[in-house]
Amino acid sequence: MKGPKQKRGSRKKRLIVAMTGATGSIYGVRILETLRAIGGWETHLIVSDAGALNAWQDHRLSRKDLSKLADVTHNVRDVGAAISSGSYITHGMVIAPCSMKTLAAVAHGFSDNLVSRAADVILKERRRLVLMVREAPLNLAHLRNMVQVTEMGGIIFPPVPAFYSHAKTVDDLVNHAVGRVLDVFGVEHDRIVRWQGIKEPVSVNDEQAGKHR
Ligand SMILES: Cc1cc2nc3c(=O)[nH]c(=O)nc-3n(C[C@H](O)[C@H](O)[C@H](O)COP(=O)(O)O)c2cc1C
Repeated sequence: MKGPKQKRGSRKKRLIVAMTGATGSIYGVRILETLRAIGGWETHLIVSDAGALNAWQDHRLSRKDLSKLADVTHNVRDVGAAISSGSYITHGMVIAPCSMKTLAAVAHGFSDNLVSRAADVILKERRRLVLMVREAPLNLAHLRNMVQVTEMGGIIFPPVPAFYSHAKTVDDLVNHAVGRVLDVFGVEHDRIVRWQGIKEPVSVNDEQAGKHR
């Protein structure tokens, strides 16, 4: 198994970031940017062919642009890469965004490329796997595959906007979703404004009561 060397005693944790062919490549991009800014993490990037297509379509980002954000980039066809073995220690993997096709592959252990193989390894090693799935509306196959991944220990994390955070820009919404995903991996970050409880609980009821009068 070939792979990047890591010095003995190195404290960097490894996180695999896969970008597949759903719209929403900004989520993968922001995860990589955040981990680089924080430091202490070694990122391993895999971009599927459709993932590259979407990064270009969404933001005019090329494979080269994406690679610059990661410490190591693996070819999606390289099923012999270090991350395709459980003996190569990683902290986990996030697929951001995750297409319904990759979701199906993960749900059924169909490891035909490095994204689905690396995810399969993460599940068999009982490490943390997060899928930022993106599709709407969802058919029964999508829903069943999400259940199956959840039953295997994976975490389905659709990037659904949280309006309670009073986001002012799309960037704020992206940061919130990314921040919550990084929480799952125990990454310490300041990407989000954390919920502190409702400050003015009465006004909601007053308003509703007024409307129905
Ligand atoms: C511009 C564009 C947008 C797409 N958006 C989605 C999407 O949001 N969700 C999805 O599941 N598939 C989407 N697809 C289809 C996938 O890219 C396609 O199923 C592909 O085979 C996924 O392969 P991958 O999982 O190996 O990346 C999109 C395709 C294109 C070209």
